[in-house]
Amino acid sequence: MSSVDPAAGQSGTAEPATASWYRRFGTVDAPGNSECYAEWSTAIAEDPELIRRIDEWPHNKRQPLLLLAAARFLGAQISPYREFRTFLDSHWDAISRTVLTRATQTNEAGRCATLLPSLARIAAAEGRPLALLEVGASAGLALFPDRYGYEFTAVAGNPAGNDGGSAQVTRLAPAGAAPGSYPVLRCAVTSPVPLPAELPRVVWRAGIDLNPLDVRDSDDVAWLEALVWPEQDFRRERLRQAIAIARADPPLLVAGDLNDQLLSLAARAPSDATLVVFHSAVMAYLDAAGRERFRSAVGGLAAARGCHWLSNEGHTVIVQADGSSVAPQMEDSRLQGRFLLLEDGRPVAIAGPHGQSLEWLQAAAS
Ligand SMILES: C[S@@+](CC[C@H](N)C(=O)[O-])C[C@H]1O[C@@H](n2cnc3c(N)ncnc32)[C@H](O)[C@@H]1O
Repeated sequence: MSSVDPAAGQSGTAEPATASWYRRFGTVDAPGNSECYAEWSTAIAEDPELIRRIDEWPHNKRQPLLLLAAARFLGAQISPYREFRTFLDSHWDAISRTVLTRATQTNEAGRCATLLPSLARIAAAEGRPLALLEVGASAGLALFPDRYGYEFTAVAGNPAGNDGGSAQVTRLAPAGAAPGSYPVLRCAVTSPVPLPAELPRVVWRAGIDLNPLDVRDSDDVAWLEALVWPEQDFRRERLRQAIAIARADPPLLVAGDLNDQLLSLAARAPSDATLVVFHSAVMAYLDAAGRERFRSAVGGLAAARGCHWLSNEGHTVIVQADGSSVAPQMEDSRLQGRFLLLEDGRPVAIAGPHGQSLEWLQAAAS
């Protein structure tokens, strides 16, 4: 998802950088999520002719997920690499066009499950409904936490929720909505997560994205589906249900850089609601200076008009380019592919990257 080349800077290997990138994706990122992508990506790493073609694209367009999603967008089916390679050859011009015009903009409604406890406790503490402003919103599907259903499974000490049935389940549903008309977001929680008794009220929702995707545009919807990894049918189904919710009441999405648009969009939020600025899986796209500029703008906003800030991000929010950390109390090694959830800059939980788990930090229980 990140445009950062994880292989960059690795010395002592004879393998070209792009091949290393695909090998890493195929052996580290894909296994457990998509066996098909694991096979394809590893095989691409060993296919010098294809690597040569990929290297004709700008650096940030060479990332494995972008090529694989472009192929899926154009109809590639789960298959052995030999068939996939034939597909790439016969569709290469269209794949190139898709790669050069699209970006990795996975929009995961499931992340609302890990944001919900914080949103609910902010709404309860402030005693007012919420105005939500998401930066890096993609199609804005995370702007509807009040319109989705939830199933939180509490399993002591086991965030994966697979310890054989001792689980307690907390269910929440949007008021008045018919079962089946909304996605149910399932999340395994490690106590003591402050789960709300009801969903918070949201009176305004808006987002910023470099390239907002439109839930009413069939090509944008097909692209969002192509970004879901092939075997993850439950995520594709959840995406379709979330898109149906957003289509019925599309959010306000502003095109532009989050640092340029934040203050003017925040000024449009109703003053009688509690403004929450939030983001998930976005900070990896910014350099350290961009992240610092954003943090300082949110701080200024909080001082000037009052707002809360939720950050749900991977290790890039922890380790800064200069080696310092914005959350020195949290060891990077505890994250292991998960996200750190910060409320107003304070670490409160470690979250599954697609909202599938939530481990509340003891120190944040109050
Ligand atoms: C991986 S997607 C995550 C989308 C959404 N936050 C979610 O959790 O489902 C990251 C999004 O951030 C957007 N983005 C990246 N850099 C940005 C910037 N400087 N300003 C605004 N949006 C940006 C991308 O266009 C993309 O849609």
